[in-house]
Amino acid sequence: MPYKHFLRVICAASLLSGAAQAAQAESSIWGADLPVPAIPGYAFPEPEATLMGWVNGGSAADNANIYLHGWGLWDALTTPSTLTVYGIQNAPVYLTWVTKQELVAMSKTSGKTLFQATAPQRKLRLSDVTQLSKFGVHSMQPKAMPELKAANGITPDTSVLETVTYDPVSGQTINDRGYFKLATIQQVYTSKQPEIAAFPEPSVVVKPVYKVISAKTLYQNRYYVMPAWPGTPAVTPTIEKNGFPESSWNGGCVYVDTQNTGTSTANAVDPSCSGPSAATTYGLGDFVHYTLTAQNAAFFDVANTQKVVAGDTLLLMAMHVSTREMTEWTWQTFFWTPDPANPPLPSSTAIAAAIPAQLTGAPAHYAGSFAYAMVSPNQPINGGKSVGQPVVGYNPYLESDFGANVFGLTRPIVDGSQSWTGTVGVQTNCMTCHALAAVAFSKTAQTAYATDFYIARDDPFFAGTVQTEFLWSIADVVSSQQTQALQKTFKHKTSK
Ligand code: HEC
Repeated sequence: MPYKHFLRVICAASLLSGAAQAAQAESSIWGADLPVPAIPGYAFPEPEATLMGWVNGGSAADNANIYLHGWGLWDALTTPSTLTVYGIQNAPVYLTWVTKQELVAMSKTSGKTLFQATAPQRKLRLSDVTQLSKFGVHSMQPKAMPELKAANGITPDTSVLETVTYDPVSGQTINDRGYFKLATIQQVYTSKQPEIAAFPEPSVVVKPVYKVISAKTLYQNRYYVMPAWPGTPAVTPTIEKNGFPESSWNGGCVYVDTQNTGTSTANAVDPSCSGPSAATTYGLGDFVHYTLTAQNAAFFDVANTQKVVAGDTLLLMAMHVSTREMTEWTWQTFFWTPDPANPPLPSSTAIAAAIPAQLTGAPAHYAGSFAYAMVSPNQPINGGKSVGQPVVGYNPYLESDFGANVFGLTRPIVDGSQSWTGTVGVQTNCMTCHALAAVAFSKTAQTAYATDFYIARDDPFFAGTVQTEFLWSIADVVSSQQTQALQKTFKHKTSK
């Protein structure tokens, strides 16, 4: 990608002062390119025709190829980058990438101001899961956990925090094309285009989710306790009402021994949350994790009550991963799991069986879930029907919290005389919900979140909107600018 390197050279040469330049040499704000690990059968970017062959093929072997592609991406993302970011040496590739907050800041200022503001020292802002807080669910709020609170006073921690980061290609695309600016998207609408221009194929966007281990959350000053994901539940009226948040999981507990920085031999769950044992107690080395030090704790910023301090550890619990290798993007998600060979739904033993031998260490302790199509068999991008079998793909740490009230659009998937309609978060499909990412411009236009069903790009639902290439972050950033602009106009009018 010559244009990328060109940009990096300009940044280094003309925009940075001496001190900033030194910091930039450590880590360009765009971060490391996605490496291509040497895994037989894995390529990146994989040609769309190859991917579509697997998606449309639908055989067990085709699915295994899709799974291997996802695991290859996961291996690449977690590869040590040799770069230092947030005081973490040799940070994994995904951690070096530009964050949504940095891109928003960049879109408001000239590139120059940005680089002075972010280099020499970047900060990683960990936020509530915004997808959830939008609907009034705050991940750091204390939650009642009647099922999990055991007699001996063990209270599992159910808080999670997220970030969104963009690889150098997608980050620079958003920045160069001004996609985080209302004026840009408004212009697309004015020129009667239904959608912003496609991202370059090698674009990658990820949403990592963390838990924070802090001294005050430890059991016996040593063990961090969290609920174990029990697998996709049957949908009950309670789940329709409240979703299936971590505080309501009924799968028992797992423990993390903060004194074991290596790996464990554990692979089980304590069903009664009665206390740690060798089989249920994991080491920090079983997770992708970062222990904060006096030198780097200040580079982490938590946008709520819980501050991170030296000695705290961030555990990577989950990560959403999307790439523009196909027109409707590839969608895979990963979540930590006690026994990676036998992960619960929405993962599967078939997905686990596709883990390549090259994926080792902490990243091999995660489960995968995939949504390379909305329904099975796959339908064409336009002109298809919502028929066949649902393809459910979601992350226990993200979408499972959604109750039925979250979804503005649900449609049935019809299979002969049978019909299935997803109503809650554990019945979602990444591709369907992200297909709806759009900014409404006309008075009657609407945007909504969706469960799993087939929707075409030219569906009448999109009338009066600009589709944002499956990226909800663009839709969110730009819609909030619309709201601000409206509020200003309103204030201006009322003050007259
Ligand atoms: C119900 C709707 C919905 C579903 C289902 C959903 N997402 Fe998202 N996703 C969002 C929203 C809204 C955002 C933006 C807010 C945020 O940053 O959390 C987002 C953000 C993201 C981002 C950051 C980039 C961006 O701008 O969109 C990625 C990557 C992502 N999701 C991947 C996935 C994957 C992979 C899945 C399936 C496993 C998935 N999503 C399922 C709504 C959804």
